[in-house]
Amino acid sequence: MNTRVDVLLGAQWGDEGKGKVVDVVAPHYQVVARFQGGPNAGHTLIFEGRKHVLHTIPSGIFHPGTVNLVGNGVVIDPVIFMKEVDALRAGGTDITGRLLIGRRAHLILPTHRALDAASESEKGKEKIGSTLKGIGPTYMDKTGRNGFRVGDLELADRSERYQTLVRKHERLLSLYPQVPDWRAAEKEWLDAVERLREIPFVDSEHYLDEALRDGRSILAEGAQGTLLDIDFGTYPFVTSSNTICAGACTGLGIAPTRIGKVIGIFKAYCTRVGSGPFPTELTDEMGERIRQAGREFGSTTGRPRRCGWLDLPALRYAVMVNGITELAMMKADVLSGLDNVRVCTHYRINGQESTQLPYDLGPAAQPVYRELPGWGDLSGATIPPALERYIALIEEAVGVPVRIVSTGPDRAETILRNVTAPARA
Ligand code: IMP
Repeated sequence: MNTRVDVLLGAQWGDEGKGKVVDVVAPHYQVVARFQGGPNAGHTLIFEGRKHVLHTIPSGIFHPGTVNLVGNGVVIDPVIFMKEVDALRAGGTDITGRLLIGRRAHLILPTHRALDAASESEKGKEKIGSTLKGIGPTYMDKTGRNGFRVGDLELADRSERYQTLVRKHERLLSLYPQVPDWRAAEKEWLDAVERLREIPFVDSEHYLDEALRDGRSILAEGAQGTLLDIDFGTYPFVTSSNTICAGACTGLGIAPTRIGKVIGIFKAYCTRVGSGPFPTELTDEMGERIRQAGREFGSTTGRPRRCGWLDLPALRYAVMVNGITELAMMKADVLSGLDNVRVCTHYRINGQESTQLPYDLGPAAQPVYRELPGWGDLSGATIPPALERYIALIEEAVGVPVRIVSTGPDRAETILRNVTAPARA
């Protein structure tokens, strides 16, 4: 039997709630594989009254029948990774045989973190707002063909390889006026790297090929969101990997013809953390209300997230570049109790109306809104008519059904909609 790989990814600027949806759909999959990003991500899961935050380990780890694979497209900080492993074990999750690491994944060194911090502090006002986890410098070494990979840990000359890269980083760091003390973190890193070998290393492309041939169901889990994609996001205010569906192919070694469903996750409104354009941003009381009601503070950095109304041209763009086949709408409850809600249906750019995301999403792209009646309490098992109208507007604009509506952080607060594909306006 030959099955397909379903992909689940963020359709906005990250923090859409992917962790919760993976957790909800994970029982349908035998393998959950993370395909890009690193500990810049924070996937929050809440069940049985407890909150769990995962940074690198796929969100299927809490389902005993699921094998979780960290793919080659991911960058791994061994210290953060092993802390996650320890926390899972301490919480009673048995990960034996259920967690695998792709050999081709690159490792984040303490010097990568130092380079991230030095580069951001030199950018001053122009800074990206990086999570400072060393993501950018690690991907730079990957494409620069200098990287240190998980598979290198199995080689006899691993120490020399590490030292060669560190010496290169030291030369780079000497160009910056302010350099954090990375040496203090080195011992902990070397210890964690040794421990990383407790987790089996695999060749993800072969592992997944065999899994597909055996008829096992696979879910590819993305991190961050479409508008943070290195190619199609709001460059340069983006992350350093391909967050879009194509990233699942390169980040796991799966052929494009093997992709099945593409599930796009979006919030009923928008948020963004860090710098960069955000046409529907609300800098007023409404933005603050959404931030407080939605607890919109970064799960990795604790930074307050910027909040704004839903942006349909941006969502449409995400549907297009990812080939999204169905959507999951998160945090609809956060907007509960408002008399009216607004949604950006198009932009006005130099006097012209457009539903397309332009090359430059700067201040020239003025959002044009439509106002709809708000909805009340969402604690019941059905969707109130006002929210159904809101969803219908979204479906009509993007041409894809909203199949999951999340009405609260708990696994149980999820409504499944049995709808077919709508026609796009
Ligand atoms: P980096 O990936 O840490 O280099 O950060 C680059 C940009 O992506 C910054 O604006 C970050 O705030 C943003 N970013 C990175 N990871 C996430 C995430 O998981 N959620 C939301 N934003 C993120």
